[in-house]
Amino acid sequence: MSDRAPNAAHPRVYLETYGCQMNVADSQTVSAVLRRAGYVTADGVEDADVVLLNTCAIREHAEEKVLHRLRELARLKNSRPEVKIGLLGCMAQHNRGAIMEKAAFLDVVAGPDSYRRLPEMIGSAGFDPSIDVRLDRAETYADITPDYGGGVRAYVTAMRGCDKFCAFCVVPYTRGRERSIPPADLMREVGELAARGVKEVVLLGQTVNAYRFGETDFGALLKMIATINGIERIRFTSPHPSDTTESLIEAMATESKVMPQLHLPIQSGSDRILAAMERGYTVTEYLDLVARVRSAIPGVAISTDIIVGFHGEEDSDFEATTAIMREVGYDSAFMFKYSVREHTRAFRLGDSVSEEDKGRRLIALIALQEEMSLARNRAMIGREFAVLVEGAARRGRGMVSGKTPQFKTAIFAGAEGVRAGDTVNVRVDSATGHSLMCSIA
Ligand code: SAH
Ligand code: SF4
Ligand code: F3S
Repeated sequence: MSDRAPNAAHPRVYLETYGCQMNVADSQTVSAVLRRAGYVTADGVEDADVVLLNTCAIREHAEEKVLHRLRELARLKNSRPEVKIGLLGCMAQHNRGAIMEKAAFLDVVAGPDSYRRLPEMIGSAGFDPSIDVRLDRAETYADITPDYGGGVRAYVTAMRGCDKFCAFCVVPYTRGRERSIPPADLMREVGELAARGVKEVVLLGQTVNAYRFGETDFGALLKMIATINGIERIRFTSPHPSDTTESLIEAMATESKVMPQLHLPIQSGSDRILAAMERGYTVTEYLDLVARVRSAIPGVAISTDIIVGFHGEEDSDFEATTAIMREVGYDSAFMFKYSVREHTRAFRLGDSVSEEDKGRRLIALIALQEEMSLARNRAMIGREFAVLVEGAARRGRGMVSGKTPQFKTAIFAGAEGVRAGDTVNVRVDSATGHSLMCSIA
């Protein structure tokens, strides 16, 4: 929502987003739905008529952040009772009972498949909250163009939901069944983005490579998107190892617009724990996949997600995880302490690893990954990469930043005429674990 008019006919809405890229994309859809209904954007909660939190339930810590924010909003509601407050997203879907006990002042509670009805729900919220948390296996919002932000990169939802039911994870419960957006809608949407100057699209889904619509699998979808003029780079997140098919690897290897970057969440390096997590692959299968990906896509960057301290994880399982990390040599990794989630299959198993052990393992893992990220980035020194410029770097006057094909942050002194959206060849001069300092080649 960009148009602003402090007018009673145009209520002002402030939308705050927590969680993953899918939630960020959903907020852009919410924004579009509300704009169509006459809402305008508020600058902050102070000048808002409606405050919406789009929430995440993946770990307890994510929920705590939102609960803390809700306590602040309780004070706002006290001083300005006419302000409507809504809880959207995965927490609304997952734990509404507990939340509504803690935040009885909520006017609206809407799950991820209920956003079409938001204007109606906000409008009708009276003494009782308006609640809609029905999961709808047909809802894809395919006909609603989200309010994309500016910039050279846009995140486009390609599929919704998840059917994997990993034992630790709430997503299948908060987002419901897997469903893919028709290729024709995605082509139209990405075509419109290209016409607006977007150069890079990131296709989104919790298991994005499980995408299938009729005969179109994810590899075929990538090739279709690659035919769109103006789109120079295609990425996707988050893929699942089990859906990383030969068709996908082939599309990545042969279609030059698909960037050499693959996120392959392993979660654990111990077969025993992987089985308990119900991830659907063994360490051997995973390593075989990594080898096939690396031989088909030279220079590919591989990243991962890891959970430490899953129920039953012994020191020996954790050591297996560190051994795999060394063996694969990830470019980057997201690492988390296991957080028991209600409704999941692992909920009844328990939480055998103490908080201290989880903390110790996490710190060790982060240190190991930092060491490896640094080594991998240092190995880039002296090499050249094509960088898609995003804009001014946060630090340093005259410095610009952008991403290499491998999605590494490159920072360099911009030359006359270099602007966002340009692709510039740079040479790496030095590196930290998080970025590459470069100069124009
Ligand atoms: N769909 C993606 C991941 C989605 S959630 C996939 O399957 O790869 C992002 C990451 O959060 C997961 O990969 C996992 O590492 C972590 N995560 C999910 N549930 C968790 C839990 N209960 N406790 C700790 N980390 C969790
Ligand atoms: Fe969660 Fe597993 Fe689905 Fe990923 S694949 S969203 S971890 S259930
Ligand atoms: Fe969180 Fe929901 Fe995303 S639980 S990680 S916002 S799908």
